[in-house]
Amino acid sequence: MSDIKTITVTSPLLPDLEEFHELLTDIWESKWITNNGEFHRRLEQALCDYLKVPFISLFTNGTLPLLTALQALRVKGEVITTPYSFVATTHSIWWNGCEPVFVDIDPKTGNMDPDRIEAAITPRTSAIMPVHVYGIPCDIKRIQEIADKYHLKVIYDAAHAFGVEYNGKSILRAGDLSTLSFHATKVFNTIEGGAMIMHDAATKEKIDFLKNFGFAGETEVVGPGINSKMDEIRSAYGLLNLKQVDDAIECRRHITNLYRESLKDVEGISFFHEIPGVRHNYSYFPIFVDSDKYGLSRDELYYKMKENGIFGRRYFYPLISSFSTYQGLPSANKRNLPHAYKMAESVICLPMHHRLTDNEVQRVLDCILIR
Ligand SMILES: Cc1ncc(COP(=O)(O)O)c(C=O)c1O
Repeated sequence: MSDIKTITVTSPLLPDLEEFHELLTDIWESKWITNNGEFHRRLEQALCDYLKVPFISLFTNGTLPLLTALQALRVKGEVITTPYSFVATTHSIWWNGCEPVFVDIDPKTGNMDPDRIEAAITPRTSAIMPVHVYGIPCDIKRIQEIADKYHLKVIYDAAHAFGVEYNGKSILRAGDLSTLSFHATKVFNTIEGGAMIMHDAATKEKIDFLKNFGFAGETEVVGPGINSKMDEIRSAYGLLNLKQVDDAIECRRHITNLYRESLKDVEGISFFHEIPGVRHNYSYFPIFVDSDKYGLSRDELYYKMKENGIFGRRYFYPLISSFSTYQGLPSANKRNLPHAYKMAESVICLPMHHRLTDNEVQRVLDCILIR
């Protein structure tokens, strides 16, 4: 395996180095390196335009906007959420002193099953935190109906959903607040980074205070805020990456089609399909292995890929609810989450990034096709 070129699950979108150098020169000359500088403001405006959202606030990562969203909406008691996500989703609930209540997913989408949400509501429930997992839109309409009926807040963890639209409208406009991650592994990255999307200027002002220790002006602190401001260097990096994100998404679409076409008749391998009306971002390509039909278990295939220099990822495995921090919660019981367990135990995310060549994609496919 030593002389085989490694195929990684992801590879970051990097700005042109010369262009980045020019912007760095501007920053050096201005001597303004953080605290709502010019590039921070420019990136916020450029993202509002690109994402078709009215207001956005940049953060240093995708975890702190989740924490801040719950705090800003004064969420208390129980928060209904999904176990099929990255652990930051649940951690943000815990950090706010609330209790995460896990509900099962819909196996057709990997997202929270709305029927399960309603059944999990108690007098202590104050919010729902769904995730558009792999960038697949949740059932936004049903979730809002439930939230309205029971007077619950909805905060979408949209870490995977950069640029995803439904019927021409950004899914980031759903719920009370949505959050994004701009981590290096994401479709659009600022190395580390994230954002919150809100509906009105007053909420943006409040969030901007909260991400700056709660400062409203020089001498007033309006709440127990945190430091989560994106600096000028990463804002400039983001501005450059935004120019190339559509091309990167197009490459991912091409790779997705190659995977789908070759895997469509493989017994024991399934995957998600295009959803009518959705502009996808092709952020991940998860496959689900049925070992009885495929002949190898998920882990056997995962390690076979590794031996061949192909690094997939068992994303999301283990389930958040099975980590020691959360497994004692009543809702973490395996019997409560059969679909989530099944998905977590059968998933492999195949390599997916804008630099993958057709030959590399074929190598991944051969590894799966030739048993
Ligand atoms: C669903 C989800 N939520 C939250 C996060 C946290 O984002 P960050 O790593 O930028 O803090 C991630 C990151 O991978 C994620 O996948």
